[in-house]
Amino acid sequence: FKESNGFPETFLWGSASAAYQIEGAASEDGKGVSNWDQFVRIPGKTFKATTGDLAVDHYHRFKEDIALMAEAGLKTYRFSIAWTRIIPDGNGEVNEKGLAFYDAIIDECIKYGIEPMVTVYHWDMPQALQDQYGGWENRQIVKDYVRYATTLFEHFGDRVHYWITMNEQNVFTSLGWLTGMHPPGKVMDQKMFYQVNHHANMAHAYSVLELKKRYPDAHVGASFAYTPGYAWDCKPINAMAKADYDDLQNYFWMDVYAYGRYPKAAIRYLESNGIHIQMEAEDQKIMKQAAALIDFMGVNYYQTAAIEYNPIDGVGMSTEVNTTGKKGTAKEEGIPGLYKKPSNPYLEKTDWDWTIDPMGIRMCCRDITSRYDLPIVISENGLGAFDKLEEDNVIHDPYRIAFLEAHLKELKKAIDDGCDVWAYCTWSFTDLLSWLNGYQKRYGFVYVDREEDDTTAKLNRYKKDSFYWYQNVIKTNGKDL
Ligand code: BG6
Repeated sequence: FKESNGFPETFLWGSASAAYQIEGAASEDGKGVSNWDQFVRIPGKTFKATTGDLAVDHYHRFKEDIALMAEAGLKTYRFSIAWTRIIPDGNGEVNEKGLAFYDAIIDECIKYGIEPMVTVYHWDMPQALQDQYGGWENRQIVKDYVRYATTLFEHFGDRVHYWITMNEQNVFTSLGWLTGMHPPGKVMDQKMFYQVNHHANMAHAYSVLELKKRYPDAHVGASFAYTPGYAWDCKPINAMAKADYDDLQNYFWMDVYAYGRYPKAAIRYLESNGIHIQMEAEDQKIMKQAAALIDFMGVNYYQTAAIEYNPIDGVGMSTEVNTTGKKGTAKEEGIPGLYKKPSNPYLEKTDWDWTIDPMGIRMCCRDITSRYDLPIVISENGLGAFDKLEEDNVIHDPYRIAFLEAHLKELKKAIDDGCDVWAYCTWSFTDLLSWLNGYQKRYGFVYVDREEDDTTAKLNRYKKDSFYWYQNVIKTNGKDL
């Protein structure tokens, strides 16, 4: 038995969002068109063809939202900046109105003592760059991304001390170039998938160097969507499948951020499949320099996966996803010859078939601590659920409280295990647009009164039961957990 020290006094209790999912105001004040503005207009891509044109109108209601964050007691607010507000066509003129909007958000946070934590890129790429040269597919993106990131560092760096370069590079590249569910909607373009990842890695690396040149004390990292794997059983072939899964699906990104290199087994696997990542002479050196400068590993934790050997004629990537909230519709998927992810019979699942596994958050922290010995920022964790607005505008969400409480208990254990965890951001604070699932899949502490249909949107904000629960967690610094 060991006595718990609890959460450190400096612990940053927070919540997270992304520009496209909350702001709306899709073409106001000079904002350019993003890849998502365009992609959602392709029939069949999103649930009920929902767009982020209005989203939850945070663009006009950010003061109300941040006042609610202050009421909940948030110590940090993680949000992303829309590249298309700052540089509408991706690499042309800077839009002063875009800078002014985020100045106002940052200043509003600071007014309440909330530490702004800024994500440079949360998936919304200027469509103009996609049209000009194929966006992430072209090495030119590195220069344009770094110019955009540097514009942010120079303008906001005096007030922003926590920066996240990329949100879930593993997700936007997998869904963009393998399953086709995100823009640019390519299916199983493996070669390009790895090349795009290399460009994103270089964009990350060069921007870390640019930030640290200007603000050596700023804290920077990338947010990785970490899905820890469990070997299906103790058959050696399944344990090896889990090692393959880690090298190709987890360490392939985290090793780059933390060590500045790709896992050797992953590179050998790619080469044996005729995939050679095109690099420039300096790339490996720059990746290492950036890795030496990052301050934390950002972790978006939602679920774990069971991993089993997958024969050569076994299942491949699934291009279908449960966007309806009808349990049991997700398909098994994997990489033939390596691994597959059968459903874990020991775990409950959400309505969208995501496993519910609080212990997984402790696993993430333990693994990162032993492999990289880096501080950790939990940049996302939360439960997507159907919520019901009842009479008198109350929302009872005991399932969300139970989910978050169980995860926080495990996070506390991770801290007691010796993991250096700096922050915990729930996904999300207000309800917001779920990229593919419309507004029915809700994550917030604050209910936003809107459905998929924009014309009926009232957009009023109502506090859910979980709002008061989180408020107490923060007030007591997690002591009652
Ligand atoms: C993360 C993303 O993958 O998960 C968020 O960073 C996203 O942007 C969140 O909304 C939840 O995903 P979903 O598909 O349930 O909305």
